[in-house]
Amino acid sequence: MCCKIENSGQNTYSETRKDPKKNNIIMSEKKKVSVIGGGTMGNGIAQLFALHEYQVHVVETNQELADHAFEAIEINLDRMVQKEKIDNKKKKETLQCIHLFQAAEDAVKGSELIIEAVPEEFEIKKQVFSDLDEHAPEDAILATNTSSISITKLAAVTSRPNRFIGMHFFNPVPVMKLVEVVSGLQTDPEVVHRIQQTAKELGKVPVPVKDSPGFVSNRVLMPMINEAIFCVYEGAATPENVDEIMKLGMGHPMGPLRLADFIGLDVCLDILNVLYESFRDSKYRPCPLLVQMVDAGNLGDKTGSGFYKY
Ligand code: 3HC
Repeated sequence: MCCKIENSGQNTYSETRKDPKKNNIIMSEKKKVSVIGGGTMGNGIAQLFALHEYQVHVVETNQELADHAFEAIEINLDRMVQKEKIDNKKKKETLQCIHLFQAAEDAVKGSELIIEAVPEEFEIKKQVFSDLDEHAPEDAILATNTSSISITKLAAVTSRPNRFIGMHFFNPVPVMKLVEVVSGLQTDPEVVHRIQQTAKELGKVPVPVKDSPGFVSNRVLMPMINEAIFCVYEGAATPENVDEIMKLGMGHPMGPLRLADFIGLDVCLDILNVLYESFRDSKYRPCPLLVQMVDAGNLGDKTGSGFYKY
C-alpha cells in the first residue's frame, strides 16, 4: 500500500473520509500534529501519534521518501498485528490517520504541535524552523527531536522561543518508554507541562531536563559508545566481545557497538562532535576509528555495514 503526497488537501483517503460507514473515526474532530521528516525517528513518531488517534501530517520532500515512511509504518503495524497487540481494524484506522505532505506550509494548518525530525544538521533545522515560524498557527508548539543541538539556539531562529521545546524520542520510538523533555532558556513552563502531558497520553514517560549539550541521554550514552569503539581501535577486544561484556555483565539489551550501528555511526559522530565542541573537553573527542568508518560510508544498519554486517 502506498499513499500519495498531499499538496493541496487531496489524498488517497479523501473518499473514505467522506463515508461515515467506512470510517467514523476520521469524521470526528481530531487533534492534529505535524511531523517534519519521515525517516526512522519521524515515521516512528508519526506512528505513535496515529496509534493514539491523532491526525498526523507527515512532511517529506519527495514521493519516494514519503512512500518509504508510509511503508515503514505499515510494516511496524503489521508486526503489532502479528503479535496481537492491535487488530487489522486498528491498523487500518491508524494508517488512515497518516497524511503525507510535500510542503510544511500546507501540512501545519491547524496543527497544535509540530515536531521536527529532519537530519541532525543545524543549517537544515534552521531552514525548517524559519519556514515553520512563518506558517505554523500562532499558538502552535514547535518541538524538535534533535539528539544534541541546542534547543535555545534553535529556538532563537523563531519569533516564539517561549513556545519552542525539545521532545526527544528514542529508537525504536514505538517501544522505548522515554521522552526527554528539554526546555530551552526561554521555554514557557506551561509548554513544558503540555508536552509532558502529551507524552503521557502517548503512553511514554516524560523526563524533564534543561538545555545543555547532549542533554542527559546522549551526554551519558555517547562517551560509553565512544569508549567501546576505542577498545576495538586499540585492539583490547573484538566488537562481539565488547558487546558480550556489556550485555552479560551490565544487563544492556544491546552492546554499545551493536547500539551504535542501530543509531547510525554518523549520528553518533555528530553528537560526539557537538559534545566535544560545546564542552571543549578532550574526554568527548571522537575515536579515529569512528571517524574513518563514517568517512568510508559504513554507517551501521542503514548502509548494511558498520561494526557488524546486516
Ligand atoms: N518498531 C516497533 N517495535 C519494535 C521494533 C521497531 N523497530 N523493534 C522491536 N520492536 C518490538 C518487538 O515487537 C518486541 O515487542 P514485544 O516484546 O512486545 O513482543 C520488542 O520490541 C522486542 O523486540 P525483539 O524481541 O524483536 O528484539 P529485542 O528483544 O532484541 O529488542 C530492542 C529490540 C527493543 C531494540 C532492544 O534491543 C533494545 O531495547 N535496544 C536498545 C535500544 C536503545 O537503547 N535505544 C535508544 C537509542 S539512543 C536514541 O534513540 C537517542 C538518539 O538521540 C541517538
